[in-house]
Amino acid sequence: MTDLVAIARSLFVDGKGILAADESVHTATERLAEHGISTSAEMRRQYRDLFIGTKGIEDYLSGIILFSETLLEKGNDKKLFSKSLAARGIAAGIKVDLGTEPFPESPRELITQGLLDLPERLVEYKKQGAEFTKWRAVATIEGDRLPSNTALHENAKRLASYAKESQAAGLVPIVESEVLYEGKHGRARTKAVVEESLEVLFSMLNEYAVDRASVILKTSMVLSGEKSGKKDTPEEVAEDTISALLKVVPKQIAGIVFLSGGQTPDQATENLAAIVQQAKKVGTPWPLSFSYARALQDEALSIWKGKEENVSAAREAFLSRLEKVSVACKAKVLADNCIISTFPVYS
Ligand code: G3H
Repeated sequence: MTDLVAIARSLFVDGKGILAADESVHTATERLAEHGISTSAEMRRQYRDLFIGTKGIEDYLSGIILFSETLLEKGNDKKLFSKSLAARGIAAGIKVDLGTEPFPESPRELITQGLLDLPERLVEYKKQGAEFTKWRAVATIEGDRLPSNTALHENAKRLASYAKESQAAGLVPIVESEVLYEGKHGRARTKAVVEESLEVLFSMLNEYAVDRASVILKTSMVLSGEKSGKKDTPEEVAEDTISALLKVVPKQIAGIVFLSGGQTPDQATENLAAIVQQAKKVGTPWPLSFSYARALQDEALSIWKGKEENVSAAREAFLSRLEKVSVACKAKVLADNCIISTFPVYS
């Protein structure tokens, strides 16, 4: 097994997942403002420390995706964040895309940027302690018109090119293909778009000769749009999500993690539990886990409010959500007779 495959597999230990703590300066500013916190570089460092500095996260997290700024910073314990993670057996990851911009050929869609100086940046991130990377592309649903074929292809091409560079630099790539939850579309339309985007993505990864065994897919769950007026049951989400993934995701990849995408923490937890149960029921060739940002952070942020005196209560809320998501990920609640042992878990 190559080192990259071993690192990719180590992120899928039973019941553990990945915290996405890689909000750009712009997104972190917005996130904190939603909780009445005004931003500065020091406030962003404290925001990262709130989560990374929580004792016991190593019981639930195999990795944390960081933003470039954080990779160079120290926590309140005066240790580099990357070093304090490594000491607890948590792999440090790094967001390497430089965000999205309107796609010139179809301006209501977004295209991800960041390929230009990527090889040089990857060398630096590796020196700074990163073991894996993430690049996020998004697909916007607008009736049957969007996403356009050209936007799906361009985003997939960039994801594949990034994944190839990341592997060449000795870093495991997480290819994130997010189908945005915003919109009035129904679940069937989301399912079709998830299938189409992943089909295009995997054919592009093939074209770029990306090694599948050390690639991790980060994907959306199949949900009705936020403004559709429909409330999907976890069973409906699970059936459609697993059926879409089984149709288009090659069996050789290292694993699949889900993003929370704007779901509430409870919704993201319940849907994950149902998805993992469904995966065990039908048998899937890849391990599944979580890589949430908002669903893991929101409750803690609303307690913290940027104040030192709230840190310990906020960390308790964070740990409590991590525990719930971890239980969901193990799908412990499933009746024994429904579990089949072909669902792989690396240990
Ligand atoms: O890029 C998005 C993050 O990786 C996942 O964030 O769980 O809030 O959707 P989310």
